[in-house]
Amino acid sequence: MDISTRHLTAIFSILLSLCPVYVGAQSPIEQRIDKMLSGMTIEQKIGQLHQIDGRADLKKVESMIRNGNISSIMNICDPAVSDRLQKIAIEESASGIPIIFSRDVVHGFNTILPIPLGQAASFDEELIRKISRNTALEATERGIRWAFAPMMDIARDPRWGRIAEGFGEDPFLAGKLAGVVVRGYQGDNLADPSSMAACAKHFVAYGAVEGGRDYNTTYVPVRALYDTYFPPFKASVEAGVASFMSSFNDNDGVPATGNRWLLTDVLRKQWGFDGVVVSDWGSVGGLVPHGAAADKREAAKTCIEAGCDMDMMSYSYLNNIKSLITDGELEMEVLDEAVRRILRLKIRLGLFENPYARKSEVSDIYSASVLADACKIAEESVVMLKNDGILPLNDAVKTIVVTGPMADAAYDQMGTWALDGDKAHTITPIKALREKYGDKVEIIYIPVLEYPRDGNTSGFKALAKAAKKADAVVAFVGEEQIMSGEAHSLSNLRLQGHQSELLETIAATGTPLVSVFLAGRPLVISHEVEISSAVLYAWHPGTMGGEAISNILFGAANPSGKLPVTFPRNEGQIPIYYNHKHTSHIAKGTEGDLTKIGREIQQSVMGHTSSYLDVEPTPLFVFGYGLAYTTYEYSNLSVSDREITSDGSLLISVDVTNTGHVQGTETVQFYTGRKAACVTQPMKELKGFVRVSLKPGEKRTVSYRMPVKDLVYCTLDMKMTVETGEYTLTVGPDSATGLKTKFTIIN
Ligand code: NOJ
Repeated sequence: MDISTRHLTAIFSILLSLCPVYVGAQSPIEQRIDKMLSGMTIEQKIGQLHQIDGRADLKKVESMIRNGNISSIMNICDPAVSDRLQKIAIEESASGIPIIFSRDVVHGFNTILPIPLGQAASFDEELIRKISRNTALEATERGIRWAFAPMMDIARDPRWGRIAEGFGEDPFLAGKLAGVVVRGYQGDNLADPSSMAACAKHFVAYGAVEGGRDYNTTYVPVRALYDTYFPPFKASVEAGVASFMSSFNDNDGVPATGNRWLLTDVLRKQWGFDGVVVSDWGSVGGLVPHGAAADKREAAKTCIEAGCDMDMMSYSYLNNIKSLITDGELEMEVLDEAVRRILRLKIRLGLFENPYARKSEVSDIYSASVLADACKIAEESVVMLKNDGILPLNDAVKTIVVTGPMADAAYDQMGTWALDGDKAHTITPIKALREKYGDKVEIIYIPVLEYPRDGNTSGFKALAKAAKKADAVVAFVGEEQIMSGEAHSLSNLRLQGHQSELLETIAATGTPLVSVFLAGRPLVISHEVEISSAVLYAWHPGTMGGEAISNILFGAANPSGKLPVTFPRNEGQIPIYYNHKHTSHIAKGTEGDLTKIGREIQQSVMGHTSSYLDVEPTPLFVFGYGLAYTTYEYSNLSVSDREITSDGSLLISVDVTNTGHVQGTETVQFYTGRKAACVTQPMKELKGFVRVSLKPGEKRTVSYRMPVKDLVYCTLDMKMTVETGEYTLTVGPDSATGLKTKFTIIN
């Protein structure tokens, strides 16, 4: 620290000591809060529950701050503005309590990372922690100390636009990744000015909205909450997450923001969470349109009593809590408890000591190392779905035609919630291909379809002509940014507009077609896969997406992504996910061919399985699937114990050999299953994964120590228990294949 900074800190400490409710940082937190609370008026306390959007009339905001009516402000990313407002809070409001500046920092801040669903395809915990740390560095430089992320809603329905924002369909994977994002955002010390509070959202079951329509009702029974929807949230509590956000939906008739069982009994009492619960935008007042409260006053009482501490934007707390208390309808202790949790967060963030935006001598925003990490995660998130050998493009390929509406879509490839990403920094595929590989091959760029929904197909003829003469065509298709994310659900998951026709036009030329999809969700692409020689699924890959994809196309990077979500053959199969139940009429896998059905035959001739008449029961691509430029062989699966007690851990080992000619990284997946249990169980469930890098010909023993407690599930008595009995273990490259063995859990 130089002299001037030291002086400033000293002056600031003197100023702080004048702050009416401030108690020295050396005192234990709860003692500090007690003292602060005892010096606060009821109005000052209520002000601590109120969060507003900073994209508002700033004069009005300033006066609200002076009056002590604001605790947190969203969406101000200019440190000059946030510091000015903070100064008013500290020096001019009666309590002098600092404000927390917050933002949806969902996948990167300025440097946009792949959408979380894409990141999940990497299965790379350490890299995701690192890029989340980078994100915190960028965001805190802009004054943000509270991020509304990670989103960890389990999503089994790609119609839901917000599937882009989470880690896919699997509770174990989502829990692991939610934990590392929390650790990255919050760092080793939340009070460090480069750390920001993470927020586990949306609690809970929001991903199960009926029909995939955003904000819709959910009906998830308690057992399924515990088994499927709670695990990532519980994992984030274990990772030390500082806050939670309640979800918009009503589950089984109770809106989450007013659900006392959820926010208090489960979250606080069972899991021991002592951080803040913030509502989603307006979701306290949302009890009124839900039909769960007569007015905002009743909604305020229900929600604060349920355990929702901060009201995002509905003004229900600000306008009603005082009269609820003075009329004797709400206990002062309930208000005090909510304020306590908010002050605890502010203390943990070190805001009383460091209230202003982090000043950094060397900016981290778009820094070389941040961009390099963004490129790495974008590479690792690409999933190769098909390859007949055309990829990687080799020396025999002299001329390529590049086309498609996503080849140069600087804005769209950033995906949803790219609030602070500047498209001027985006590396698009065509830009990267030209810059990095332009001297290796002749690249002919034919930009047909200006954007995915574009109806202008006039360039198709010229494209076909050029394609005919080329050695390969690389077509970038997919979804615009605006097609996924909040309130952007779809019923039709085929490629929008004329993109399929575009691919057909190219395929008809006979030149090998490499289709690269940039999208916010699994699309229905059966036909497009069939007509392509190779298919890469790159999701919305963010700022560095173009460079990452071009590295994969030319073999500078070997694809290693694995699907974090099942790809349906058609929309009618939805919901379709790997960890489904056995059912009593399990499909054989051969059903679903209408041509096999004769006329006027007996009903029973078709058999009785859980399947459709008109589509195979299997998905197009299973969870965990992904190809590479090499192949891996699995052998010698073994477990340390055939019998193990529920407090033990099982060491699982398997040999993995790189049987190809290039170095690669394989994600080895460990699944358990049960044939019989007291409550019917999924056929298999992911319980571990390990990424292993192998040179050509190299064989390694990959080991995973599985804590037996990870096999808990909600048993008949509604307790999370590890049940004794026989378990199957499958270890392999995806959720459908692998080596099998058994082990038994004993008392
Ligand atoms: C509504 C969204 O559901 C939530 O995810 C987000 O954090 C808030 N708006 C704040 O922007």
